[in-house]
Amino acid sequence: MTAEEFLAAKSVKTRRALNAFLNARGDSPPTLLEAIRYTLFAGGKQFRPALALGAAELISGDDACALPAACAIEMLHCYSLVHDDLPAMDDDDLRRGKPTVHKAYGEALAILVGDALATLAFEMAAEANDVRVVREIAEAAGPRGMAGGQVLDLQAASNTVSLEQLRELHARKTGALIRASVRCGALLADANTKQLDALTAYGEHTGLAFQIADDILDVVGSKDRLGKPIGSDAAKAKSTYPAVVGLERARELANEATDAAIEALVLFGDAADPLRKLARFVVERDS
Ligand code: IPE
Ligand code: IPE
Ligand code: MG
Ligand code: MG
Ligand code: MG
Repeated sequence: MTAEEFLAAKSVKTRRALNAFLNARGDSPPTLLEAIRYTLFAGGKQFRPALALGAAELISGDDACALPAACAIEMLHCYSLVHDDLPAMDDDDLRRGKPTVHKAYGEALAILVGDALATLAFEMAAEANDVRVVREIAEAAGPRGMAGGQVLDLQAASNTVSLEQLRELHARKTGALIRASVRCGALLADANTKQLDALTAYGEHTGLAFQIADDILDVVGSKDRLGKPIGSDAAKAKSTYPAVVGLERARELANEATDAAIEALVLFGDAADPLRKLARFVVERDS
C-alpha cells in the first residue's frame, strides 16, 4: 500500500467518525456548523489522524481505539489553520483550493469556528475515556505547543533567528500536534514504554520534516496542487528553513529528519512500513 492509499483509507474512517460526531450536535447554530464542516471536510490530507490510527494499528493490530484522538487532533489542526489564515496572522485568502473561512464567512465567524473546534476537540477526546490523551492533546495545542509556536512564528517574522530557534519554533507550531497524534495512537493501543519512546522520536522527526517541507513548498510548490498561496511566507518575511539556510540545505535537513524518523522505528520491523512510507511522503509530497 502506498502512503497515499494509506492516507485515503484512514481518511474514510476519520471522516465518518467526524460526521457522526457533528450530526449529534445538530442543534448548534446552522451557520456555525456549516462553517465547521467547510473546514473539516475541505479536502485536507488528514495526515495527523492517519498517524494516530497507524500508530495504534502498529501496536495492537486495530486502529479503532485511536479514532477519538485522531478526530480530536484533526479538529485542533483545522482550528489552527482557520486562525492562522486570519488577517491578524498570515492573512491568506486560499486554503485547500477554496476561500479561507474568514473570506467565506467573515472574520467573526472564523474566530468562533476556531473556538468551537478547539472545544469540540476535547468533547471528542473525552470519548476515549483516557485522561492521558486529554493531557497529551491539551499540552500539544497550548502555550508550550501549537499556540506558543504560533506566537514564536509571529515574533520571528522580519527578525533574524538561529537555526536552533527555528527548529524550536517548528517543533512547537507544527511538531507538537504531529508528535501527539502518534503518541495518542500508541497510548490508546497500550504501547509499552519502549514502543512509546520509539514512536515519540518518530513523531518528533516527522513533525520537523513536515514543517520544513511546508516551508519549501511555499517557495517552489504549485498553488493549484497545494490549494494555498505560494510566496506567502516571503511576503510576510517569515522565518522559514529556506529563508534561514537556503533551499538546498532545507531539503537536506528535511531528508535527514525523515531518515531519523524511519530509523526510530527499527524495533518494529516490517510492521512499521506504513509509518515509514508516511514519513517519506512528508518530504516527497507536492500538496
Ligand atoms: C498545513 O498542514 C499547516 C502546517 C501545519 C504545516 P497540512 O499540510 O496538514 O494541511 P491540510 O490539513 O492537509 O490542508
Ligand atoms: C502553520 O504554519 C502552522 C500552524 C500551526 C497552523 P504555516 O502558516 O506555514 O501553515 P500554512 O502554510 O499556512 O498552511
Ligand atoms: Mg502561519
Ligand atoms: Mg499560514
Ligand atoms: Mg506554510
